[in-house]
Amino acid sequence: MIIVRVFERKFLEMDKLLYTGKAKEMWQTADPDVLRVVYLDQATALNGKRKEHFAGKGKAANAISSLVFRYLMDHGVATHFIKKLSANEDLVKKCQMFPLEFVTRNVVAGHFATRYGLKEGAVLANPVEETFFKSDDLDDPFINESATVALKIASHQDLMQMWNICRKVNDLLRPLFAKAGMQLVDFKLEFGRLSNGEIVLADEFSPDNCRLWDTATNHHMDKDVYRRKIADLTQTYDEVLARLQAVIKEGN
Ligand code: ADP
Ligand code: TMP
Repeated sequence: MIIVRVFERKFLEMDKLLYTGKAKEMWQTADPDVLRVVYLDQATALNGKRKEHFAGKGKAANAISSLVFRYLMDHGVATHFIKKLSANEDLVKKCQMFPLEFVTRNVVAGHFATRYGLKEGAVLANPVEETFFKSDDLDDPFINESATVALKIASHQDLMQMWNICRKVNDLLRPLFAKAGMQLVDFKLEFGRLSNGEIVLADEFSPDNCRLWDTATNHHMDKDVYRRKIADLTQTYDEVLARLQAVIKEGN
């Protein structure tokens, strides 16, 4: 076992760093279709303009995301996830990413509240779906379907397929988080295309890219604790992980 681990580690040393993002590093492995993702111990806000180190954050975010991706795959959602490699590393299928962020909102919060001058907290009559063009330089501007198609970022069919997956994810995760005592307020997903042309859910699902409010107290249990300087980030993520593990272990 130890020999296998040493051998695996030697292999990892040959990986090539492709990209360092705000929360993760993407490494090319020896297999052209497989990437190694390293979750970093850092959090950013304001599109990277604010950045801080948080010991244990990479491990917690990775654990939550792997758990959620496995849960989604067990319920028929195609994703990039292959396996967890270590506390803060995964192997994933390499994608050609769509430069789009798909936001689904169940409750009024964040930019939706500020944009329309609303108080946070009201449950929306239906989930609100918004797409943003992923560009730090442009501050991720809103993009609609006709612009996405005109700019050849994705076709109508691609968009329909990705929004259908977003709806399925919401239908699966809203009740899961509710069982774990958290309201799934909103979340952001990203998609990519595999080398065989298939569109899959990619990137991550963690409190970095969703809002979770404690059902009993309405306390924030996501990256807003850092954005709004409310509570310790790693402790908050560890609590989300513990609650999710408890309900997923119960066989949901
Ligand atoms: P950001 O780029 O927003 O700073 P991260 O630090 O999370 O975000 O970096 C991860 C990057 O890797 C993102 O740009 C994301 O779009 C991209 N990515 C996620 N999953 C895959 C994948 N399976 N294949 C290729 N790229 C991916
Ligand atoms: P917003 O209210 O700031 O638009 O955020 C909506 C959801 O999308 C929230 O769960 C946080 C997530 N999100 C990201 O993951 N990345 C981003 O760059 C932005 C703006 C939001």
